[in-house]
Amino acid sequence: MTMKSLLKGTAVIAVAGALLSGGVARAEPEVELMHMWTTGSGAEALAKVADKFREQGGTWTDNAIAGHTASQYAALRARVMAGDAPTAVQLKGPNIHEWAEAVGLADLSRIAEPGNWSEVMAPALVDIMSYDGHFVAVPVNIHRVNWMYTSRKALDAIGETEAPENWDQFNAMAEKMEAAGIIPVAHGGQDWQDITIFEAVVMGMGLDFYKKAFIDLDDETLRGLEMVATFDQLRKMVDWMDEGMPGRAWSEAAVLVMKGEAGFQFQGDWYVGDMSRLGYEPDTDYLCTTQPTADGSFGYTLNSDSFAFFEQDSEDRQEGQALFAELAMSPEVQVFFNQAKGSIPARMDIDLSDFNSCQQLSAEHLNQAIETGGLVPSLAHSMAQPQRIRSSVMEIVSNFMNTDMSSEDAANQIADAVQANI
Ligand code: BGC
Repeated sequence: MTMKSLLKGTAVIAVAGALLSGGVARAEPEVELMHMWTTGSGAEALAKVADKFREQGGTWTDNAIAGHTASQYAALRARVMAGDAPTAVQLKGPNIHEWAEAVGLADLSRIAEPGNWSEVMAPALVDIMSYDGHFVAVPVNIHRVNWMYTSRKALDAIGETEAPENWDQFNAMAEKMEAAGIIPVAHGGQDWQDITIFEAVVMGMGLDFYKKAFIDLDDETLRGLEMVATFDQLRKMVDWMDEGMPGRAWSEAAVLVMKGEAGFQFQGDWYVGDMSRLGYEPDTDYLCTTQPTADGSFGYTLNSDSFAFFEQDSEDRQEGQALFAELAMSPEVQVFFNQAKGSIPARMDIDLSDFNSCQQLSAEHLNQAIETGGLVPSLAHSMAQPQRIRSSVMEIVSNFMNTDMSSEDAANQIADAVQANI
């Protein structure tokens, strides 16, 4: 990936400046964080981090970009092209390496070494956060994406007690729910929600299939029969969504699940954070389980929110970056941020006994996936592939969900789009 392709062919005014390694006094640390958490538990959890930053004498500028990752990254490109990169930015997965290679990201060694990051950070995150032998990003959490949430009330209404474990059971329960006047699948029609449910079905076809499709980007797999079967299952699920879904926020769809007006929803575990915030509890109001699987395989789709820093000349800004990086990785922030956000800490040395049952299950499943080779990065949440590949798949999935496109056409279009963007 070259700087040219990252910035879509436009000239870049390079962000000049010293590395974050000066050892200067923290006189007036300042940070501007560009991120995507405009509402809900994300915004609330971050506001608490901002409070901590201010308590330490820093000046915090919040730059929340509405939409989702794609909108935030477009805003980031515009700022960098204008020669005005934000001091800190929420940046994920391979996008970190791309920006490090294209314009350089600040070296966090001055904070990471005394903080012992390479020892305390979950090993799965270390390479993602590092470039050229040093840390260039700090992870604040581990989110798992491949969850299915099931409404306790909807289960009661159809006389069931357990969430389905395979697609036959899922489809049978969805039909019963439909007959009982319940919306079987809660969804909000936004592109990133579309690719999230699609990814859950891909995982649900099998772990090896997921790896071949989204990690290896294997052409035959992308246009093959299993992908067609994935889209056939997704088509059933689209038919079970309600008419109110276009543009709906995922959290509004989630409330339908909590109230028993809808049965199932496929989302990452930010769900747990927002539902707790609204007073709904795991087990009582909803069940959190791995998405159904066709072949009994087990996996964990990894997502981690992390922050990277553009090099700056100003000492105040360098100090702001250092203070923010240190806080983000501190045990205190990792506890309160993740308790609120539904995720689990990116540090391995945190006691989870005060986290809720879905979060504890996430940690258990993470270990199980690591042991069995089932830990995979999420495509939908910008961890598996660079943004241009994610975006091209996302567009086709949304088209499929909003038109009567055939499963075969969808599979071929995805394979073609991936070929064009590799
Ligand atoms: C982010 C989460 C966020 C979720 C929903 C994910 O890609 O990593 O932090 O809560 O999207 O917006």
